[in-house]
Amino acid sequence: MSNFDIIIFVEDTNMKIIVTNNYEEASLEAFKVMKEIVANKPNAVLGLATGSTPLGLYKNMIEDHKTNGTSYKDITTFNLDEYVGLDRNHRESYYTFMHTNLFSGLDILEENVHLPFGNTQADCDAYEKAMEDYQVDVQLLGIGGNGHIGFNEPGTPFEKTTNIVELQERTRTDNARFFDNDINQVPTHAITMGIATIMKANKVLLVATGENKADAVKAMIEGVPSVDCPASALQNHKDVVVILDTAAASKLTK
Ligand code: GLP
Repeated sequence: MSNFDIIIFVEDTNMKIIVTNNYEEASLEAFKVMKEIVANKPNAVLGLATGSTPLGLYKNMIEDHKTNGTSYKDITTFNLDEYVGLDRNHRESYYTFMHTNLFSGLDILEENVHLPFGNTQADCDAYEKAMEDYQVDVQLLGIGGNGHIGFNEPGTPFEKTTNIVELQERTRTDNARFFDNDINQVPTHAITMGIATIMKANKVLLVATGENKADAVKAMIEGVPSVDCPASALQNHKDVVVILDTAAASKLTK
């Protein structure tokens, strides 16, 4: 950690907030948390996320694997979410994203990699069932500009497990950058772990950078827990590390 990082413990919660100077430092701090888990438990179960935010962390994990030989051969992963209606091999599917940006750079075994897929309740139940045999050691999260985690949009009851959701316009607009800036190409639905699924993890590691996350970050940490900000459910989790840059932390007042 650099000398400039600020660490805040949020009253009445088990949230530890680390404020770094920029995206690179945030990615490095996130990597330190992940590395400690993987190094101490070679058969750890990792809950993984997509989006722009984890890319720096994933680069650090690959570099560490190549340089220091940290092995993922006994690691199991479960991803948070996937678009409905995209072929797994579509360039913007989360399946493709994970293989391109992380799995292809590690010695992880394909049979230990899990991503939700499908558009029915049976598909959701099958994913929950697959997770039942495991205990997630750390769940990595980004946060949507509207406070979503996974694809659990505002209004989602905290009790939900894996489910099919309709994406809000803000989310589809935010993600249009991956689809030729054309919102019409962005899927309307997704399959996502529910908030109750996420809350089962032993530890949650949430990374948020940039000014467009500042309102969501404030609601997550300082707001009264409410379905209006799905990430605020994390105030009730037993072990949360939130890693921010100064822009994402800029609206915190307490
Ligand atoms: C996406 C994903 C989330 C992600 C969030 C933020 O839609 N479903 O898991 O955390 O939005 O994405 P980004 O990191 O690109 O800002």
